[in-house]
Amino acid sequence: MTTVQAIQTANAIQPPAAYKQVEIGRIRNVGSSMATISINKSVIRNSQLHLAQIGTILKVVTSKSIVVAMVSSLRIGAEDEDGMSDGCLAQLNIMGEITTNETTRETKFFRGVRSFPVLGEAVYNMSSAELSMIFNRENEACIEIGRLQQDSSIIAKVRVDDLLSKHFAIIGSTGSGKSCTVALVLQAILDKNPMGHVVLFDPHNEYSKSFGDRAEVINQESLDLPLWIFDFVETCELLCSEIEDQAREETEILHEVLLKAKRLYDRSLKSGDTSSQVKLDDVEAELQRATHITLDSPVPYRIRDVSKIIDHAMGRLENANNLAPYKRLKRRIATLIADPRYDFIFKNQASPRPIEYIVGRIFRLPVRGKPISCLDFSGIPSEALNIVVAVVSRLAFELATWSERKIPILLVCEEAHRYIPRDRSMGFHSTRKIISRIAKEGRKYGVSLGIISQRPSELEPSTLSQCSTIFSMRLSNELDQNFVRAAVPDGAAELLSFLPSLGTAETMVFGESVNLPMRVIVNTLAAEYRPHSSSAQFTELWQKDTATPELMEKVFDRWRARKMNPGGRSIPVSAPRAAPAAAHTRSNVRQNAGVNQGGSQRQMLSRAPQRVANPHGGSVTRQSGAIASQVRDRLKAKASAPPTVPQTLSDVKSMLNSAFHKNI
Ligand SMILES: Nc1ncnc2c1ncn2[C@@H]1O[C@H](COP(=O)(O)OP(=O)(O)OP(=O)(O)O)[C@@H](O)[C@H]1O
Ligand SMILES: [Mg+2]
Repeated sequence: MTTVQAIQTANAIQPPAAYKQVEIGRIRNVGSSMATISINKSVIRNSQLHLAQIGTILKVVTSKSIVVAMVSSLRIGAEDEDGMSDGCLAQLNIMGEITTNETTRETKFFRGVRSFPVLGEAVYNMSSAELSMIFNRENEACIEIGRLQQDSSIIAKVRVDDLLSKHFAIIGSTGSGKSCTVALVLQAILDKNPMGHVVLFDPHNEYSKSFGDRAEVINQESLDLPLWIFDFVETCELLCSEIEDQAREETEILHEVLLKAKRLYDRSLKSGDTSSQVKLDDVEAELQRATHITLDSPVPYRIRDVSKIIDHAMGRLENANNLAPYKRLKRRIATLIADPRYDFIFKNQASPRPIEYIVGRIFRLPVRGKPISCLDFSGIPSEALNIVVAVVSRLAFELATWSERKIPILLVCEEAHRYIPRDRSMGFHSTRKIISRIAKEGRKYGVSLGIISQRPSELEPSTLSQCSTIFSMRLSNELDQNFVRAAVPDGAAELLSFLPSLGTAETMVFGESVNLPMRVIVNTLAAEYRPHSSSAQFTELWQKDTATPELMEKVFDRWRARKMNPGGRSIPVSAPRAAPAAAHTRSNVRQNAGVNQGGSQRQMLSRAPQRVANPHGGSVTRQSGAIASQVRDRLKAKASAPPTVPQTLSDVKSMLNSAFHKNI
């Protein structure tokens, strides 16, 4: 049976009215991946132009196979037989062919073509049977996301393993349906994989209802991410100043202090003394010797001990001029402890929870019927959001590494441009570093990324280029479109010309997890599972005075307490943050440093490092030096001028290339 006969047999299964073969046009021009056709007058006359709209898949029946091509653009201008230029031209992207294997007699769709169409050959619309041969491969673990825009009888499927193992991105302007698509895709994945491990970073608390009782929703109140689980660089980013010289001094002090605090806690567990009873002078030598605990060991310590060790070190200083970095650290710690928004770091000090509990809850180990955890960051300050993303992403990477890939994890980053921004002077060094690392190496360790963003041009460039499946929804900004164009596989970029006109909940899907780029109408998500991101109802709310005294009391209570649910601990209006003693907050430091940024900060960076007063007279370890240099790199990156925005597609491509090859 020939290919054409095989297709005819498949078509015969359909009800006769389902498919009427229409000749759309004739080939006028063929290149290696493109063809131009002139559309038949009869198609225009019979109002059948919808059969050749952008994104539609057409076929050319050649002697050996059926060549499959997608309409990527349309224009008026072909000359008809009478020399009138009222015809219509369509540009086609040649995608693949349906052929019958000579030996197995199996008819299948393949990417790429061996027999090209010739000039003058007819181009037809495709039947549902042919489309389903292309899009619905049997025997593969797939999820259903919607229906083909071209033919609603064809289910749009993506292969789960390809989607997850090589990362995916969902890109689109605000309101285009990204969050609903995220919810649909994750629900479909979890339906088929009830023992999954998915962590969703949810900065606006949109998803708490989207997964019903399958989700563990962790918010600011229930999050437990103690300082001891941060690695040293993350701790320094939280506690140290942003001014380079000051940060260097504080880093070196913290190195010593944290190591001792960990060893002190470990000692108190073994000896049964509480650390508050111990005199530091008595255990000094013992703490220096406990080499099995290093700075990055995930071993608990108490903030109380950190303050005690800092006080002890200050007491042993000979020169009072060296007290400043110690005081700054103490003040920063006190400020953070006093701020209820940072409770998730400082609570449970009296009896730190074990790493099994903390990591187990976030990554669903064991799953206990909730394979996804939604980290609701809506109550967390934006600077802390970066830290939480960095710490959780690093924990995912470590878990995958130490479990030898037996626990694959998916991290879904909503609003990814907020914590992995392209502009290096913004964001957080540790977050950028770990997400870039997962983007590049995660596949080998079983950590996958889902990047969701409305501003691909503001995203860290190498991360988007590592996503091998892209769901591109309506996207109106041209610069953003260029970033998506540069990231989609070669040959498919032309298909993006209609991104600005896609409807809500309509998407183009490109990449490894689909056989061909497809234009999909995403399934409708039931109202109760929709992410609650609806816009404010201006006209409705402006009909009556909603600012009642009761409402305003609640608003200001929350505002003062910096919690959506006050009633627990609250801070008075004259909290330490506002007092001069609290002047060391990061934003204040940033403002103070703003005057100096640029030239003078670069001068500071080039100065030889100053040796900080060390109460024990010992030299600072090599590890501390290395970490100090990482912190210095971060500051250097922040000090450098923001990159210029690439305007053209080739600018974007060359920027992505250089980002890809650079070791971040
Ligand atoms: N698959 C869908 N099923 C049902 N409704 C949808 C779907 N996709 C989009 N919508 C509708 O469109 C609205 C906006 O969708 P959504 O919140 O997903 O957009 P978004 O791209 O995430 O926007 P933003 O960037 O502002 O977060 C939803 O509130 C919903 O009413
Ligand atoms: Mg959204």
